[in-house]
Amino acid sequence: MTKNIVIKFGGSLLFSEGGTINYKKITEFCDLIKNDKNYDSIVIVCGGGKIARQYIKAIREFTENEILCDMIGIDISRINSRLIVANMKEFAYPQVPESFEELSKAIITSKIVVMGGLQPGQSTTSVAIQVAEFLKAARLIILTDVDGIYDKDPKVFDDAKLLRELNYDSLQKIILEMSEDTQAAAGEYRIFDAVSLQILKRSNVVVSIISGSNLDQFKKLWNNEKVNVGTTITK
Ligand code: UTP
Repeated sequence: MTKNIVIKFGGSLLFSEGGTINYKKITEFCDLIKNDKNYDSIVIVCGGGKIARQYIKAIREFTENEILCDMIGIDISRINSRLIVANMKEFAYPQVPESFEELSKAIITSKIVVMGGLQPGQSTTSVAIQVAEFLKAARLIILTDVDGIYDKDPKVFDDAKLLRELNYDSLQKIILEMSEDTQAAAGEYRIFDAVSLQILKRSNVVVSIISGSNLDQFKKLWNNEKVNVGTTITK
């Protein structure tokens, strides 16, 4: 049985507060992954981050076409992926797959594969779950800018509680309670959007959502240390 893993590297981690590219974080992350001997396949799905949101905002000013907004988000996530590919050098597959066919070809080379979005109407979290399902990955790790999933929005409510363990049904309840009209707009897909939930429900993937603000938690998880970090979602 092959052992595969998918990591979503949230776009928020690629850029520092001022909007400059966070070279240090990218290098630290790539150095951790590069020399791995535990997995047969590693796929990194890169988000769009601030730059994608800036482009989406501008496009929305010019046209009310959400598909165009999504398309630019996808393009930026692919450009962001190139940063990781460049850092990984010969450890990474040199092209960014734009479909599952391309991913299949990339995977058989045993290189680390880095990709961004695939089609409009979803987020890179949806892509990460699709890839995890496709590869029957043992786990999907989502690295983002919050500590995990909370019972309510931690940016709005001081008393929001971090949920350590969730099953698919309880996650669905939280998403429905939290969802607003903006949930499905380009650039606004939340940490876990409705499309992602639907794919997750049929996939059986175990998902860990952890903060990538500093990579200590990720390091422990990556090294298989028994740690209680972030939120773990199981069936
Ligand atoms: P994300 O919103 O998923 O990137 O993709 P992100 O910045 O990493 O998100 P967070 O901060 O970690 O949650 C950027 C945008 O690209 C479009 C969407 O508009 C999305 O908001 N996109 C991405 C698609 O339309 N389809 C995809 O498959 C992926």
